[in-house]
Amino acid sequence: MKSNMPEWVKDAIFYQVYPQSFYDANNDGIGDIPGITAKLDYLKSMGFNAIWINPCFESPFQDAGYDISDFYKVAPRYGTNDNLRELFREAKKKHIRVCLDLVAGHTSVEHPWFKQSSKPKPNQYSNYYIWTDNAWESGVSQDKNSVNTVSGFAERNGNFVSNFFYFQPALNYGFAKPDPKKSWQLPVDHEDVKAVREEMKNIIRFWLNMGASGFRVDMASSLVKGDTHFDATINFWREVREMIDADYPETILISEWGDPEISVQAGFHIDFFLHFGKHGDAYLSLCRKGDLSFFHPDGKGDITYFLDDFIRQFHKVKEFAYIGLPSGNHDMKRMHSDIPYKNVELALAFILTMPGIPFMYYGDEIGMKYIPHLLSKEGAYDRTGSRTPMHWEAGKNMGFSKAREKDIYLPVDYSRDAPNVKTQEKNPDSLLSRVKKIIQLRKNHPSLGTQGQFSPLFAEYKKYPLIYLRSDRDEKFLIAINPSRQKTESTLRFTKLKKIAETLINTGCHLKFDKKNIRISLDGQSYGIFRMD
Ligand code: NOJ
Ligand code: CA
Repeated sequence: MKSNMPEWVKDAIFYQVYPQSFYDANNDGIGDIPGITAKLDYLKSMGFNAIWINPCFESPFQDAGYDISDFYKVAPRYGTNDNLRELFREAKKKHIRVCLDLVAGHTSVEHPWFKQSSKPKPNQYSNYYIWTDNAWESGVSQDKNSVNTVSGFAERNGNFVSNFFYFQPALNYGFAKPDPKKSWQLPVDHEDVKAVREEMKNIIRFWLNMGASGFRVDMASSLVKGDTHFDATINFWREVREMIDADYPETILISEWGDPEISVQAGFHIDFFLHFGKHGDAYLSLCRKGDLSFFHPDGKGDITYFLDDFIRQFHKVKEFAYIGLPSGNHDMKRMHSDIPYKNVELALAFILTMPGIPFMYYGDEIGMKYIPHLLSKEGAYDRTGSRTPMHWEAGKNMGFSKAREKDIYLPVDYSRDAPNVKTQEKNPDSLLSRVKKIIQLRKNHPSLGTQGQFSPLFAEYKKYPLIYLRSDRDEKFLIAINPSRQKTESTLRFTKLKKIAETLINTGCHLKFDKKNIRISLDGQSYGIFRMD
């Protein structure tokens, strides 16, 4: 067991809820917290035991809520703090953990701290953000301390550092090595920087006290500026981790860092493989590299590109942390964009039988499509097409809301093949039913989850299929996946596997045992999961 790792994490199967698009309980056209509570039974029936909700706090929503104006208050469009408290309570009854999104690095320009900080007259908040000495001095320099600044925004004679969009001013966690000639670059132990750190810890405490089980931390690596090796940023997160270990040992921190090897040093319990950063190419090679994706039916992909990187990271961090494997998220195109519906099932079967922690992005379990060419909503730009309302049933607004069509957050997909939960629940061969089945398998058999060994049996450079074994002392599972349109034949030699004990799922896989070998043929776009003797 990993040190100080809450026991529940090892069996966690996460579901990511984008609150504005999940379910609209009061029919004003926008998803809300009571809507999440109303759908807990659905999540439970699917087998999800943890959720992460994108930011649901007060915000002008220029970046869909990643621009917070009050860290302590649920955005009125989503409900009240009491609604969130109730969600925590109801979820707990159903053994579902609820994690929130912590935007630790920046706020909205509407945040009262920033409004104070922008004032010319020095005050308590002047240094809560990073401002250059005057309106003509930018943060750009030749050295490592170069930062993005916004000019001409406020009456204060200076430019402020922004983290992402211009309206997301960076909170002041200081500079790792302040330039002595620039007195506005504060050291990390400056009193005002320490005050900002305390604010963040208070926010964390507030929601954990209310019943949250942890946080997904937005841009977790972004805090201290000029922090080339992240040492100072790591130090801050370690302090947070110490606080959590001491006072909230059942809660966790999940980083949007994308570099498990580093984030593990910062004390994060989970970090993702996702579409950017050091492991971005490996992640994208699964489902988001057009016809070169491994899960694309053209069969031109390369699974070793992903596996080599993933397995190396996995072994580096496994004593201390888990790697989150998302089906998608609100920042990238849905997998059902580059790869066809049929192959979504294969990709999800893979994610759900890997030793990382699966994160299902809402709607991926029914194969929702990325909707191209939508007008940008709340700073989403081309991310908009991945943020459309959940499809609960056919008909008006696909069951997302009873509001008038023109009032809903984003349009639903009314195309004839648009999936929905209700129809798929009735069909045992639907994507939803298969996902549910694999989740059950994973829950009933620890060897399919984070605890089992992972051994590739056939995973070769630019070849198909992919065959691997998940095992522990008691059980062995063989998983064979062929995303390509072409039939495949492979021979596994000297595997010690004697025969199939139980076929759990099989959509076109044939196994023949002779002496010490197994011949496996897989129809195009098929897979199988077998318990073996
Ligand atoms: C990462 C979030 O996932 C993304 O949606 C947001 O726009 C940026 N961070 C800025 O907070
Ligand atoms: Ca609503």
